[in-house]
Amino acid sequence: MKITLVTDNPKSWIMPYVSELKRRLGQKHRVIWVYDVKKIKPGECAFFLACEKIVSKEILGLHKHNLVVHESALPQGRGWSPLTWQILEGKNEIPITLFEARENVDSGDIYLQTKMKFEGHELVDELRRKQGEATMALVLEFVSRYPKIKGQRQSGKASFYGRRRPSDSELDVNRPLKEQFNLLRVVDNERYPAFFIYRGRKYFLKIYGSDETIEDLSKLEGVKKNSNISSAFVRPAATADARPVWEIRNDPKNRVFMLHSEFIPLTSHMHWFKVALKKRENLFLVLELREKLIGYLRFERKEKHLRTISIALDSRFHGKGLGSHFLQIALQRYKNFLQNDILLAEIKKGNKASQKLFKKFGFRLVKSNQQMYIYRYRFPQ
Ligand SMILES: CC(C)(COP(=O)(O)OP(=O)(O)OC[C@H]1O[C@@H](n2cnc3c(N)ncnc32)[C@H](O)[C@@H]1OP(=O)(O)O)[C@@H](O)C(=O)NCCC(=O)NCCS
Repeated sequence: MKITLVTDNPKSWIMPYVSELKRRLGQKHRVIWVYDVKKIKPGECAFFLACEKIVSKEILGLHKHNLVVHESALPQGRGWSPLTWQILEGKNEIPITLFEARENVDSGDIYLQTKMKFEGHELVDELRRKQGEATMALVLEFVSRYPKIKGQRQSGKASFYGRRRPSDSELDVNRPLKEQFNLLRVVDNERYPAFFIYRGRKYFLKIYGSDETIEDLSKLEGVKKNSNISSAFVRPAATADARPVWEIRNDPKNRVFMLHSEFIPLTSHMHWFKVALKKRENLFLVLELREKLIGYLRFERKEKHLRTISIALDSRFHGKGLGSHFLQIALQRYKNFLQNDILLAEIKKGNKASQKLFKKFGFRLVKSNQQMYIYRYRFPQ
């Protein structure tokens, strides 16, 4: 069949995906890629991809089918930049629809609809990558099922999104960044960068995601997938952490597994904590999840080249993969600091979770007595 791919903006992010589509469709069909709607020649199916201009009835008349991909569950979300608007609304599941173009914008029959799933951290390039891949998948499916594929009329109440302009990328200097993070996810560093106005001047902010994935253990093998994990992060302990660390230390469900399992009064903990933070030779880390401290991990120096490890999590978060996450990050990130030392974990015999945890990260059982096991680890030298 004769297929026409139409794009009307040579700088569009969609160009590499259309190029790939042309290659794939070209294996079985005659495919022409047109960059200017006025140059469209008659054919069977035309796909208008990321087109910015509305197409006239005459041009629609050149093909039996004129197909458009739109990122919403039509008839809701007709209009402009539906993906951007929905990210700004805080949505992580965004429908994407392939439908017949009509003179009335976004009103034709629907052939296919699927959902794009996001995790909430993706910046514009990643959003577009998923959008590009979903677009390709819809076009390829339509072509493979053509001409048997049937359209369905749009039903329900329509809603419209307006056009976005560079001025919509303005940040409010008086609001925290995290409240404006979704805006930072949809700005384009070159075409419509984030900016703010302060002291009578305009300032641009460009955003780049880090490739660092060490905190996202959910993607590593051997660790249970848990959606909480990717948002948990590790940092050195600070003075303000004294009380939450005390609460975790005294949690009865944790104390049963501690070698010194007595309750510790707050005043003596405060004193101990202050001293512990000052000892630079020790490494004292905490794990935060959604701004709440949920765990601590200490590598306490006992002798030159010998440290003991103590780790505990808020018991509401036990068994969710977070202890593994914490230990893995600590060992990876502080490898240089720890690598000349022997690390010892002293684990009560009934503490299955802790035994499994340390074993999993290469700690070896070296000793035991009636009450406990001692596991040992040394970084490969
Ligand atoms: C020990 C502790 C830090 C582990 O963290 P966690 O988030 O609960 O553990 P994870 O979910 O990462 O699981 C680690 C391993 O233990 C296993 N595990 C978890 N809970 C378990 C349980 N109740 N019984 C048996 N195994 C368990 C997990 O399956 C996992 O092994 P796998 O990867 O081979 O499947 C946490 O449970 C804790 O704070 N316990 C109380 C304090 C403590 O015991 N500290 C250690 C003193 S040495």
